[in-house]
Amino acid sequence: MFSAPEKPTEVFGLKFKNPVGLAAGYDKDGIAMRGLAALGFGHLEIGTVTLRPQSGNPRPRVFRLVEDQAVINRMGFPGEGAIKVERHVLSNVEQPRSTIIGLNLGKNKDTPLEDAAQDYIALMKPFSAVADYLAINISSPNTVGLRRLQGRDMLENLLSAIGKERQAVARAGSKHRPILVKIAPDLSEEELEDAIDVILRTGMDGVIATNTTLGREGLASSHQIETGGLSGKPLRVRSEIVLMQVLKKLDGRLPVVSVGGIMCPEDAKRRLDMGAALVQVYTGMVYAGPGLVKKIIRAV
Ligand SMILES: Cc1cc2nc3c(=O)[nH]c(=O)nc-3n(C[C@H](O)[C@H](O)[C@H](O)COP(=O)(O)O)c2cc1C
Repeated sequence: MFSAPEKPTEVFGLKFKNPVGLAAGYDKDGIAMRGLAALGFGHLEIGTVTLRPQSGNPRPRVFRLVEDQAVINRMGFPGEGAIKVERHVLSNVEQPRSTIIGLNLGKNKDTPLEDAAQDYIALMKPFSAVADYLAINISSPNTVGLRRLQGRDMLENLLSAIGKERQAVARAGSKHRPILVKIAPDLSEEELEDAIDVILRTGMDGVIATNTTLGREGLASSHQIETGGLSGKPLRVRSEIVLMQVLKKLDGRLPVVSVGGIMCPEDAKRRLDMGAALVQVYTGMVYAGPGLVKKIIRAV
C-alpha cells in the first residue's frame, strides 16, 4: 500500500495533514477509527452521535442505486449513545493523533424538537474533551422535524445556546473547540441566507455543505422510490450549487467543508478550486473503494 503525500492545510485553527475527510455516518460509534485513519484521511467525522442509545429505523434502511452511483439511506441515527461513543473514541483514537477527529452531534428521535438544544448541549461537554471539532447536525432527513432547526428562529435559539455552552465548557477547563454547522442541500436561497446570517451572528466557525437530499431527479434505479436521503453522484450538482451560494454569502468570513457527490479525484479538486477549505467523501468510497482516499489526496 502506497502512503498518502502530505498536503497540510490549516482550517478553523486546526492543522490537517490533507484536506480530505470522511463524512459523518460511516463510523457512527467511533469503532473503526484506526483502520479509517490508515486509509489516509486528514480528518474523520465520527457520528452522528445521540445522547441516549437508540436503534434507528427498521431494516432495510440503506439502498444502493447502482445504475445511478447513489445511495438512499433512512438510518435514523442508530447508535450506542454518548457514554459508549465517548469511551470508543478515547480507546480507538491513534496515539499520537495524526488525524483530526470531529464529532457530529444530533438529537434523539424521542426528544421533542422544542427541547433539541438540551440534547446538543449535553453532548458538548463530553465531546469537547475528546474531539478536535464539533459538527451540529440539523440536516438529516431521517429524524422527523430535525431539519426545521435550520429555520431562522429555531436556529438562532439553538446556536446561541450552543455558543453559551461552549463558553461554559471552556471556563470549566476543556478546550474551546471549533463548531461547524451541517446544512441540507434542499434549502431555498432565502432559507440558506437566513441560516448563514444566524451562523455568522452566533459565532460558529464553519459550514459543512451538504447532507443528503430528498430530491429524486434523473434517477434510473428502481430503488428511487425508497424513503430517505439520497447521496452520491446525483447529489453532485446540487451540492456544488449550494457550495457556491454559501461561499458567496460568507464572503471569506468562515471556511466551508464541501460534501456530496464527490466520486473521483476531479470532483474533489473542483470543490477545492471553487473555494472549499476541506472536502469529505462517503458514497464515493462505496463505489470506488477505499483506495479513493489516497487517489484524491494525490490529485488535490
Ligand atoms: C448510509 C449513510 C449514513 C449517513 N449518516 C449520516 C449521519 O449520521 N450524520 C450526518 O451528518 N450525515 C450522514 N450521512 C450523510 C453524509 O455524511 C454526506 O453528507 C452525504 O452522504 C453526501 O455525501 P456523499 O454523496 O459523498 O455520500 C450519511 C450518508 C449515508 C450514505
